[in-house]
Amino acid sequence: MAGDKTYYITTPIYYVNDVPHIGHAYTTLACDVLARFMRLDGREVKFLTGTDEHGQKNETAAAKAGMDPQAFVDKVSRNFRKLVEDMNYSNDDFIRTTEERHKRSCQALWRRLVENDQIYLGSYAGWYAVRDEAYYGEDELTASPDGRKLAPSGAEVEWVEEPSYFFKLSEWQDRLLELYDQHPGFIAPESRRNEMISFVKGGLRDLSVSRTTFNWGVPVPDDPDHVMYVWIDALTNYITAAGYPDVESEEFAKCWPADLHMVGKDILRFHTVYWPAFLMGAGIDPPKRVFGHGWLLNRGEKMSKSIGNVLRAEDLVARYGLDQVRYYLLREVPFGSDGYVSHETMVGRIDSDLANDLGNLCQRVLSMIAKNCDGKVPEPGPLKTADEELLEKAEALIGEVRVFLWRDQAFHTALICMWGVIGDANRYVDAQAPWALRKTDPDRMASVLYVLADTIRCIGLVTQPFMPDAAANILDQLAVSEDQRNLGNDIARRRLQAGTPLPAPRPVFPRYVEEEEEA
Ligand code: ME8
Ligand code: MG
Repeated sequence: MAGDKTYYITTPIYYVNDVPHIGHAYTTLACDVLARFMRLDGREVKFLTGTDEHGQKNETAAAKAGMDPQAFVDKVSRNFRKLVEDMNYSNDDFIRTTEERHKRSCQALWRRLVENDQIYLGSYAGWYAVRDEAYYGEDELTASPDGRKLAPSGAEVEWVEEPSYFFKLSEWQDRLLELYDQHPGFIAPESRRNEMISFVKGGLRDLSVSRTTFNWGVPVPDDPDHVMYVWIDALTNYITAAGYPDVESEEFAKCWPADLHMVGKDILRFHTVYWPAFLMGAGIDPPKRVFGHGWLLNRGEKMSKSIGNVLRAEDLVARYGLDQVRYYLLREVPFGSDGYVSHETMVGRIDSDLANDLGNLCQRVLSMIAKNCDGKVPEPGPLKTADEELLEKAEALIGEVRVFLWRDQAFHTALICMWGVIGDANRYVDAQAPWALRKTDPDRMASVLYVLADTIRCIGLVTQPFMPDAAANILDQLAVSEDQRNLGNDIARRRLQAGTPLPAPRPVFPRYVEEEEEA
């Protein structure tokens, strides 16, 4: 563990013109789980999310709504702040690119790039896709059946010709390849790392970094006819929130370089090519790692307003419950890959993984303890091999989950590993049949229930970052104190204390019951 370094983790800052859907919720959720895990593990954490509020796309959306851009972004950015509440995110900061601190930071970065001879004035003539806020080369475009020119993302491009400042990206090819080579973990997952490497190997053109045909952006220092290209503005949010341009501050020293930028695969190029080049050009260290995860697909397609297949977090949470949604999103699709989400598979997971496997386990064990052990943690006798085996597997979970999360961001693997122990515990209940032991061997029954209670404690501990409320419910029912819930703490490895009084049991995960169809 790196001494005092704060674990600094970020989400993309989302374009406010869109209504948030579970694609946005997904990225921030992944970060939330990591942030919560790190805090429980004793690390200081800074978890940042926010909104991207400048650029042509937002200016156009504001005009369409008949609003002044600032009033428009003030209004719509609330949707993303509400998402934070709906999903119970634990972010430490929420940045908006229209804030003063950010303008100051962008202009300082720009000046530094100018001082370092990284920016020059020229003119841009080429293709631009407003939807992506990205420039494209002629060779990257395809024609739609009706003759419109499309970017690889499917966004329509338009011809742009205007004076523009350029960043000398072409000079950074070797340094970028060196960065990827020396820090193999910089781009994840591996398959996308290879894509980025071949993109950079293909050669880099200087990048247009200012626009003159609209105003909604951070003004270029000393040349107010230009506003900064929205991506240089947007990427800079990560250092703004760390205290830039106060590079001497304690905050900056503790936070930067960021440990992890979590993004979707659509914006990996911006984060692993442009961003480290801007930073190195300004003499700032690049982030340690960028993870580009896959798409959540609904009915076989990427969610979009125009297809009408958008799933919204608040609707899912209202229907299925918050922790159920948090669990489902990270369990259903292997993190990094594209995958399908649907109501059908969601109901399946809630019923089988949550209500049956975990919920029933807790309910059976806790109610047997309440009825037969005087509502106290039972006193175990000598433990048998089967007991020791289950306890060892349960106790190993913290270490295993730590590796899957810290090293690989493999949320699904961490959950599969937990559910392996839950399955073992359920088989153990059936094999040991504590209800039958009640008459024949009450001492043995007490041992079995003790082993199960302590197994549930371990499961409660490791599910905390994923399902904070449900895990708290489980740990409360086992009277686990606050400091025993910190994973990095030695006390977390202490087993339950026999004789501890327990509160009356209450259900953890109800089954999903279809509500009456609304007329
Ligand atoms: O690109 N599945 O913002 P954006 C999974 N403002 N993730 C999805 C998704 C889906 N179907 N749809 C969206 C921008 N996402 C810029 C970012 S950062 C300096 C600036 C997530 O609102 C995913 O994380 O278009 C993707 O990268 C991000 O939303 C794009 O958000
Ligand atoms: Mg987008």
